[in-house]
Amino acid sequence: MATVERLLHPMHPKADDTGNKVTVVGTGQVGMAAVFSMLTQGVSNNIALVDVMEDKLRGEMLDLQHGCAFMKNARINASTDYSITAGSKVCVVTAGVRQREGESRLDLVQRNTDVLKIIIPQLVKYSPEAVFIIASNPVDILTWVTWRLSGLPRHRVLGSGTNLDSARFRYLLSEKLGIAPTSCHGYIIGEHGDSSVAVWSGVNIAGVRLSDLNPQIGGEQDPEQWRRMHQLVVESAYEIIKLKGYTSWAIGLSLSQLVGAVLSNANSVHPVSTYIKGQHEVEQEVFLSLPCVLGRGGVADVVRQPLTAEERARLHASAKLMHGVQAGIHF
Ligand code: NAD
Ligand code: LAC
Repeated sequence: MATVERLLHPMHPKADDTGNKVTVVGTGQVGMAAVFSMLTQGVSNNIALVDVMEDKLRGEMLDLQHGCAFMKNARINASTDYSITAGSKVCVVTAGVRQREGESRLDLVQRNTDVLKIIIPQLVKYSPEAVFIIASNPVDILTWVTWRLSGLPRHRVLGSGTNLDSARFRYLLSEKLGIAPTSCHGYIIGEHGDSSVAVWSGVNIAGVRLSDLNPQIGGEQDPEQWRRMHQLVVESAYEIIKLKGYTSWAIGLSLSQLVGAVLSNANSVHPVSTYIKGQHEVEQEVFLSLPCVLGRGGVADVVRQPLTAEERARLHASAKLMHGVQAGIHF
């Protein structure tokens, strides 16, 4: 009798499903930051990792597995073969190229579309019921690409969108006001990137709208020039890429929050990239960020956020830009 049989008297085969399995495709800086956040924050204890770089993939898997004694019953698997992703509740895509200094997110579009053409059909094959969360850039366009490639309903495909930009905005608000970021309420909507829109009309602390205190806020005529804060949000990724080569920790935490909202059926509100045709009179078939209610099925609702005429016009400009880029993609 083998040692294990001498130790254990079998009663019933062990169940495999933890109910919170998450696949992460792309074990680069973003993917690993997201995985580390999910595992250490208790969002998921069952992670499947996929990448094309076998050695890197195995190295990351072993390194995480060696941390299992410090985590809560973590199960970490990795393979280049998508069969290990079967039965995932959420699939997170962080694979593909990132910007080099001087490149914009939009410069990556065709290269990363080609990457998604390989990845998405495999994920759908093994986890047809999953919610898909895209982080690869340009995230809004690649979310649209994923929706088209996957054949999934709109509500089950979302992009990490401006959840990150809004977090950056709230951090800057918190620094200026001396109030915790969790108590600074403000949304960046539209494109994750250069044409994003700051909804200054809604920025508030405890329901006190800053635009009631300073009607010029966010505008060019504002003597206090609060609009500079949004400019810093737009520039922040470029600055970090110049300084350290990539961004990782904040997007990892952002992804962990979004996955957590889905797995726990939270119905919490997050600005994420979703199908917005018909909202705010947007006419194009594009995915852009608006505040969305996230739960087990993905996007349950889009909040009908009041926007000023200028904010709506900026959102329309984002939509037009995305639509133009989409027209040039080769499938
Ligand atoms: P990285 O180069 O560190 O990692 C990318 C990984 O993707 C690599 O490990 C690579 O092997 C893998 N990969 C490439 N092709 C693949 C394929 N066909 N199948 C499986 N894996 C594949 O890059 P990163 O810094 O992690 O960034 C990843 C993406 O996330 C980039 O597009 C970047 O611009 C984007 N990003 C988005 C946000 C956001 O807020 N949405 C934030 C940061 C980065
Ligand atoms: C970000 C990436 C580069 O950190 O999109 O904003």
